[in-house]
Amino acid sequence: MIEYRVRTVPDFTALGQLRTAAWNGPDDGQSWPAVLARSLTWVTAHEGERLVGFVNVAWDGGAHAFLLDTTVHPDVRRRGVGLRLVRAAAGSARQGGAYWLHVDFEPHLRDFYVACGFRSTDAGLLRLA
Ligand SMILES: CC(C)(COP(=O)(O)OP(=O)(O)OC[C@H]1O[C@@H](n2cnc3c(N)ncnc32)[C@H](O)[C@@H]1OP(=O)(O)O)[C@@H](O)C(=O)NCCC(=O)NCCS
Repeated sequence: MIEYRVRTVPDFTALGQLRTAAWNGPDDGQSWPAVLARSLTWVTAHEGERLVGFVNVAWDGGAHAFLLDTTVHPDVRRRGVGLRLVRAAAGSARQGGAYWLHVDFEPHLRDFYVACGFRSTDAGLLRLA
């Protein structure tokens, strides 16, 4: 059974390990305390004591929030964990006062975000570094 925790500070080493397993490149977890200190909310997924999912919500302090870093461990994908993480994050962002939740993603993830309830809009992205 997977348990979902909202705004509960995770073990940052475990978060780094989850990110390393799910994304390209190592993550030692050390940057996350500063990131989450600025977040509107975040949600973690746990199978027993093991961290298997994470999503972060940044915001502008007002109506707009931005979903980032949706991550599910490869061992538990396609079991609805990502969907539940995003739904919980959206509910928590709404409770926190946000009115709009934005996300961007690569084309192969369109079906996932549509399943999560997002609709397409035009958006822009400017590389700064
Ligand atoms: C994207 C990710 C979070 C999805 O997590 P997940 O738990 O496997 O997703 P779910 O099981 O909740 O998927 C729900 C639905 O979304 C769609 N979906 C999920 N992953 C998909 C994929 N890789 N390709 C196409 N559709 C996908 C499917 O319709 C799925 O329903 P189905 O399994 O009944 O067909 C996960 O694959 C991941 O961590 N990927 C690596 C990191 C990443 O790229 N994150 C996105 C950042 S924008």
